[in-house]
Amino acid sequence: MSPASRPIGIFDSGIGGLTVAHEIARRLPNESIVYFGDTARVPYGPKSPETVRRYSREAAAFLLSRGVKAIVVACNTATAHALEELRERLPVPVLGVIEPGARAAVEATRSGRIGVIGTAGTIRSGAYDLAVRRLLADARVYAQPCPLFAPLVEEGMEASQATRLIAQDYLAPLHDMEVDALVLGCTHYPLLRPVIQAVMGNTVTLVDSGAETAAELDRALEDAALLRADAHPPRHEFYASDSPLRVKQLGSRFMGEIIHQVRLFDVDGFDKKA
Ligand code: DGL
Repeated sequence: MSPASRPIGIFDSGIGGLTVAHEIARRLPNESIVYFGDTARVPYGPKSPETVRRYSREAAAFLLSRGVKAIVVACNTATAHALEELRERLPVPVLGVIEPGARAAVEATRSGRIGVIGTAGTIRSGAYDLAVRRLLADARVYAQPCPLFAPLVEEGMEASQATRLIAQDYLAPLHDMEVDALVLGCTHYPLLRPVIQAVMGNTVTLVDSGAETAAELDRALEDAALLRADAHPPRHEFYASDSPLRVKQLGSRFMGEIIHQVRLFDVDGFDKKA
């Protein structure tokens, strides 16, 4: 198989990264995807950087074993803690979601006041702060962890009154700081776009890191002459380290299309063999 015909590897701590896979499939409809969701060890958000780095190395090793030509770290927390190390170690291009999200926020802001929301780990790492300031040195970045958002989405509670109240609570400081761009710095947050927009108001631009990452991947593959040019349709494969049936059932909401099969991948067993 020519390098360009090989699939794109995407990994996340669980099903949330399917929102990124969705954007990639939309932007690059001719590309095959191998998706791995580490549902046995989700959430990554509250875990230590060392643990998230180890999990990320294992996920990347699995994707490489499936012959991928590039790896997208769809998880914001894994990008925050592990992207640099993966880039140094891996023999294929590795993209994270934070730089593209930061770039889009810098393009969107007029006042230089940018909000970022994400898991506790992503916010604590300061990775978005750093990425924004590299592009716009005098930007004011206001970061807010929203640890309850991801579980609320997984429970299908995007439109509930409870979610609206929690959103008001979490977002009040960013509203008060009058940010005019807000980065949705977690895989699950695109599904909360309506409630977040309602709380923040229509003058605030919401930046979806996943969509920006798909655009960056398109450019990176083109530059590396790795865009797939085959005539036959692409094939997507989905793997999860636990409860593949749940991923299949819930995943369609995140992926925006029916997922026909999710296979179990025993990440611990693989690690011992590697
Ligand atoms: N995928 C994670 C992220 O984007 C959210 C879920 C988790 O905490 O693992 O940060």
